[in-house]
Amino acid sequence: MNRISVSSPSNIALIKYWGMSDARQTLPNNLSLSMTLSQCRSFCTLSRLTTGTADEILWKRTSGPLIAAQNSLRIGIERHLHSLRERFDDWTPLCIATTNNFPTGAGIASSASGFSALAVAFALHCGHSLNSPELSGLARLSGSGSAARSVLGGFVQWPGDAHQLDGPAQQLAPAQHWPLHDLIAIVDATPKSVSSREGHFLAATSPFYSTRLSLLPERLATVRQAIERRDFNALAVAVEREAVELHIIAMTSQPPVFYWQPATLRILERVRQLRDQGLEVCATVDAGPNVHVLCTAQHKTAAFAALSMMPGIERWIFDQAGDGPRRLARHLF
Ligand code: DP6
Repeated sequence: MNRISVSSPSNIALIKYWGMSDARQTLPNNLSLSMTLSQCRSFCTLSRLTTGTADEILWKRTSGPLIAAQNSLRIGIERHLHSLRERFDDWTPLCIATTNNFPTGAGIASSASGFSALAVAFALHCGHSLNSPELSGLARLSGSGSAARSVLGGFVQWPGDAHQLDGPAQQLAPAQHWPLHDLIAIVDATPKSVSSREGHFLAATSPFYSTRLSLLPERLATVRQAIERRDFNALAVAVEREAVELHIIAMTSQPPVFYWQPATLRILERVRQLRDQGLEVCATVDAGPNVHVLCTAQHKTAAFAALSMMPGIERWIFDQAGDGPRRLARHLF
């Protein structure tokens, strides 16, 4: 059996993609910038089917056997596959198995890692390499914009060129440039009730959305410069402002979307206090209640000691800046 297996990382957005200019092509209204993670990953194995005409799509919980994927996952994968097949004109039926090693649909960008893994596996199956500049565009065909960033490691901007909204993501710096840690406080691991896609559609109904778009270019420049100079305090202020603003847009959309839970706010407050006390720590929240606590290696232990006993946290995931997708010798089937 000719199997291709890859793993692809999740990422945490420092400047968030929120709102689309073209839903069919998944084009954003604004440039976004993320840090690719190392530990939170999706795994995908793909092989040609020699019998039948229908795809076989399998799913595995973090632990447990491979089972037929439930409908919602199957539909998402089939939709992405259809676009990939159109692009490559390769219509061979496939067996695809996928799994994540972290909670799915809970604001930890499982679609970023999952769909980038599928795009990369399919591209390898069609003869591309892990370095292909096409990967970002192929991941975006899934409908998940953040997947377009997960095909690269380190600090990644999507699109890389401000004048080309349909262009690929671009690596600004590798993970080794600034190996920041991400302590992820899981406040609620259940899938969110309003998807990011719905949130993108609603964004423009917020009366503050145009103000947000006008503020973003300067904030992006600040974050880029902070990364380049490894200036934690400059990064922290911009990243926290950005996180709050994304949720202001969500909460003031019509109808409003509330991703935060009480513990989310408590952690954000505590992180700010810790920074005032001199720790290099800051926090951000994607479309969910879970908090990504970013910190330098030097202050990781102290930050965790101060936060770990807070009420309302189900568990922690320890992650850090990492490289992009990898080809694996171990297969899911
Ligand atoms: C708040 O449409 O990429 O995480 O596919 O569900 O991960 P998913 O969402 P996507 O929107 C991402 C929204 C965000 C910000 C970001 O990652 O830039």
